[in-house]
Amino acid sequence: MLTLSSYYPAGGRAEHEIKIINIKPTERADVLTAMAKLPYASTEKPVVIYSQTLANGEKEYRTVSAKCPHQGADISGDELKADGNVYCSLHRRPICIFSEYNHAYLTEKRADEFYIVKSYQ
Ligand code: FES
Repeated sequence: MLTLSSYYPAGGRAEHEIKIINIKPTERADVLTAMAKLPYASTEKPVVIYSQTLANGEKEYRTVSAKCPHQGADISGDELKADGNVYCSLHRRPICIFSEYNHAYLTEKRADEFYIVKSYQ
């Protein structure tokens, strides 16, 4: 569970809505793995969807690439820590999900489907 007194808005920007496919549960109730064609990617790649429950009781979902931006290790098995970061198991660098400077994409759940939200007009 996050211990941040407030969390930062999703920093990732998408020019259009992106459907996330191949959703799979993990051992953790707040983490899903899937595939999506993220902005600036030419093909669909593995992603991780994290969720947290907001003060109003609603869930917020955020999606990031499953590959660590440092040297590409798979972060899908690494735990989201209370400070809003996932620490890559290979070199322990933080990947911001709910913390400052994050490039996570705001994601909506509609029925059983997930979409990265369009963030441009
Ligand atoms: S590959 Fe993730 S910190 Fe180096």
